[in-house]
Amino acid sequence: MPFTIAIDGPAASGKGTISRALAERFGFHHLDTGLLYRAVGARGGDPIGAARMLDPDDLKRPDLRSNEAGQAASRVAAIPEVRDALVTFQRDFALREPGAVLDGRDIGTVICPEAHLKLYVIASDEVRARRRAAEIGADEAETLAALRERDARDSARATAPLCAAADAITLDTTAMSIGEAVSRAIAEVESRYPKA
Ligand code: DC
Repeated sequence: MPFTIAIDGPAASGKGTISRALAERFGFHHLDTGLLYRAVGARGGDPIGAARMLDPDDLKRPDLRSNEAGQAASRVAAIPEVRDALVTFQRDFALREPGAVLDGRDIGTVICPEAHLKLYVIASDEVRARRRAAEIGADEAETLAALRERDARDSARATAPLCAAADAITLDTTAMSIGEAVSRAIAEVESRYPKA
């Protein structure tokens, strides 16, 4: 039985960095599920068809990190048929041995409700905007507005909204360095993963 880690939280909260670090430390596979929605949004045209025919190569497009791609992703992610079309790929990924880390918005609540560890990663709006703007070379105020708009849409949608699973551990990274946040997450895995 593979070990599954679900990491959810709002945009740019640090979940991607923590997920990659955990995957590396424990030799697990990592799936950034936001990339699936970004790739569907970037395809344009009919999003339901795009989700049903999504090719793993679509995830390698170089333009998926921008604020615009994030907004398009958030819009298509509110369509229930788009989400349905992406469930099997994500659940199959979670079954990879010896384990997998999936990060997104609904991993602990919908995709992997049986995950061995669920983290809900948050940070203040300002800190998230500063980190994301620096990462993608965008304006900070514009990035802050884009993050807030996305979070509002992602939290308010009817299907699989952004929210913490009842059994998730909340990690507030506002005042933490990357190293600190990663150490805290590693400690949570070590207390649960028998081979650590
Ligand atoms: O994690 P990200 O910022 O790359 O995600 C982009 C958008 O995709 C996000 O605003 C909402 C959507 N998303 C989702 O609805 N469910 C997920 N599991 C991952 C992302």
